[in-house]
Amino acid sequence: MQIDVFTLFPHWFDWFRGQRHVANALALGSSRECLDYRAHTPLSGGQVDDTPFGGGAGMVLRVDVVEAALRARYGDDPIAVRERRRVVALTPGGRVLDDAYVSELAREEHLTLLCGRYEGFDERIVEHFCSDQLSIGRYVLAGGELAAMVVCDAVLRKLPGALGHEESAHEESFSAALDGAPEYPHYTRPAEWRGWKVPEVLLSGHHARIRDWRAEQSRARGEQTGGQPEDAPGGRSGRASLP
Ligand code: ADE
Repeated sequence: MQIDVFTLFPHWFDWFRGQRHVANALALGSSRECLDYRAHTPLSGGQVDDTPFGGGAGMVLRVDVVEAALRARYGDDPIAVRERRRVVALTPGGRVLDDAYVSELAREEHLTLLCGRYEGFDERIVEHFCSDQLSIGRYVLAGGELAAMVVCDAVLRKLPGALGHEESAHEESFSAALDGAPEYPHYTRPAEWRGWKVPEVLLSGHHARIRDWRAEQSRARGEQTGGQPEDAPGGRSGRASLP
């Protein structure tokens, strides 16, 4: 998979490469490149944004600047580019990212992520150059860079070989293998700590019983949360209830 991220801050993404699943995905032939809007701006002084027509606070990323950046990268009219690859604007009001959306993007061979800054994009960028508008949640970040990292992280770990062993991405929270439910609880040594015991079944070595127990736990968690994280214990208040 080839991912291009357009941003005003390409160096912010440097640390991101070091993560094992990202490094694995890149070593296996995927690429993730960052492109700087400023590198091809037709405006003087590296200008990329401007004040909004009609007034209001903040600055808006200009359509001519984004067009120049996309043309420089793909050698084509951005209107044609979005016909052959997903071009995703990162914006708080977009389609909210979930496991199904991540899987959809992970099936693409080519993906372009456009980070907005300040007040976001001139609407013509979104309307004419983008196939998608994606939000990582209903809150406003100072820009799309963190959202782009979230997308890259979630998408790259779905690629074959990225996690090192295939099982972990297959049977994780919200996957089809768990019928879209959250994952079952995990435990490790010590088997007892301050009187808190690991469920007996997990120590039994009985694989069929363990599988059934995990499926039941996952289903119960899904019912408890109704699939909505804000309904999860501790979801609204931000604190899990104490036992
Ligand atoms: N840019 C600013 N806020 C964002 C969000 N919540 N999701 C995606 N991109 C954003």
